[in-house]
Amino acid sequence: MLRNMSIRKRLLVILALVYVLSMIGTIGGGYYLLNQDALREAKEKIQLFATVMSANQEFMSYNVRPDLMDLLPDTYFPSASVGIVMMSETAKIIREDYPEYNFKIASPNPLNKENLSDAFENTIIAGFDKGNYEEWEGVVTKVGKRYYANATQIVARKSCIWCHDTPETANPEMVEEYGRDSGYGYELGDIVGGRFIYVPMAEADKITMEKLAGFGGGISLLFFLAMLIIDRIIVATVVKPIENIVDVAGDISRGKMTREFEIIGNDEIKLLAEAFNRMKVSLAKAMDILHK
Ligand code: HEC
Repeated sequence: MLRNMSIRKRLLVILALVYVLSMIGTIGGGYYLLNQDALREAKEKIQLFATVMSANQEFMSYNVRPDLMDLLPDTYFPSASVGIVMMSETAKIIREDYPEYNFKIASPNPLNKENLSDAFENTIIAGFDKGNYEEWEGVVTKVGKRYYANATQIVARKSCIWCHDTPETANPEMVEEYGRDSGYGYELGDIVGGRFIYVPMAEADKITMEKLAGFGGGISLLFFLAMLIIDRIIVATVVKPIENIVDVAGDISRGKMTREFEIIGNDEIKLLAEAFNRMKVSLAKAMDILHK
């Protein structure tokens, strides 16, 4: 295909091909690198969020709950004694400032219906149950939005059972608040749910797209300018001189022996013009001899 084209066209087609390949490389490679960056950033945010939550829970377990049990042994006060209640409530406060961040203690069998696991969470919890992993991390799309998610399994321990065994044995105040339908039946060692943290990727994705558009635009502009400049150079230094040689050679072939091949520049075309001029001289001599 390239063989049937003019030099100028051929060069422009090759440049256009290089442009397309560079764009694919830049956009593909750029997307990969920027996405890695966005993921790393999301991971850091999740770690920070998880550490804050665990620290809260730890503080409660070691500094609040034991004293509460000593001081008010018969009082039902979940905000100071149930880690999950405290974490969910803290997360709600955090979400006032970071509405896109989500923290959820999800369970397929919850006391609080708000904690009912969705389809994605159910698959992850099923993975915990099968022993595939104890912690899961990755990207998930929910209602059209991309999130980076971290999930850790929640296992029923001895200390959990008295609230989550049966409505009859649980604290009546708790049963009154949450009902008797679900959230019970825990057995020691059961995987009862997961702690899910979601960090939104929309902002990072937007920045990735903007950067890619910037790269793409920059490269396109650069190639456009390069094509323009190379085209001008090719026309001036190759196409025009060759056209000139063709023109002069045509005239000479029709007997206009006064015409000369123009010698411009210092490249292969100049050598060609010089060779043609020498050939013209030899031709003129040969014609002279023939005429005589
Ligand atoms: C003092 C009672 C109590 C104890 C002890 C307790 N929980 Fe709960 N648990 C609750 C309450 C109340 C909720 C509902 C919290 C809410 O409103 O979000 C809950 C919620 C949960 C949830 C979220 C799903 C749901 O049921 O709403 C899980 C999972 C859970 N608990 C597991 C545990 C585990 C594991 C332990 C032991 C480490 C434990 N719980 C100990 C009272 C308790």
